[in-house]
Amino acid sequence: MIRVQQLFKKYQDGASETIVLKHLDLEIKTGEFVAIIGPSGAGKSTLLYQLSLLDKPTSGEIWLDEVKTSELNEVEKTAMRLNKFGYVFQDYALLPELTAAENVMLPILMQGLGHHEARRKAERALGRIGLESKIKSLPSQLSGGEQQRVSIARAIAHNPIILFADEPTANLDSANGRVVMDAFSEIHDDKQTIVMVTHEPEYAKRAHRIVTLKDGRITSDERGEK
Ligand SMILES: Nc1ncnc2c1ncn2[C@@H]1O[C@H](COP(=O)(O)OP(=O)(O)OP(=O)(O)O)[C@@H](O)[C@H]1O
Ligand SMILES: [Mg+2]
Repeated sequence: MIRVQQLFKKYQDGASETIVLKHLDLEIKTGEFVAIIGPSGAGKSTLLYQLSLLDKPTSGEIWLDEVKTSELNEVEKTAMRLNKFGYVFQDYALLPELTAAENVMLPILMQGLGHHEARRKAERALGRIGLESKIKSLPSQLSGGEQQRVSIARAIAHNPIILFADEPTANLDSANGRVVMDAFSEIHDDKQTIVMVTHEPEYAKRAHRIVTLKDGRITSDERGEK
């Protein structure tokens, strides 16, 4: 599904330059649950941003199925992000004045679907991760783990081909972290392809495959316990 060839990324800040990804090759297949781990500053988030088309590599190529992403224009990339990808970030990024269901509906409405259809999809996604009883709750009425699960429901409600997550458990205590990992595990069982960055070896083990990044290079690529 994703094929990365010689991915190279550097940040230029005036005269100083930071090389973050050093000619990476990586292939992610449909249905895989890949955890990306490694020390702080290794380039994990940078890699995830390139894979998910939130940022543009300095050189190298990312193929998505048969699409050469370097040849997509901004409109095509935006459409891909909105229609084909799902995103989960560490800070949930829920809108505080909207209920759980409304937060999940928002990107579906942005895709141009009607209100009724959006509500149906949102309720289904919240149901899939066990939050049917919280549909009308505001984020402030939910625990951190529940808020993160709402953000997962929002990310999967439009059936993305890939779900990207950057440190989804970073702001959670271990009990809530486990609940969120259970949610990822369940949606992976339903055949969702997932690429997740994490600091926690315990959570990485619950993936299918663990890719370790150090200093901009892949230093190991092994099976997880899933
Ligand atoms: N926009 C930017 N401009 C300049 N340097 C950047 C930028 N974004 C990231 N970097 C640098 O790139 C390197 C890798 O950053 P990245 O955020 O990918 O690391 P990470 O592995 O996700 O770390 P963490 O575990 O702390 O989240 C770091 O040295 C960082 O300072
Ligand atoms: Mg990071």
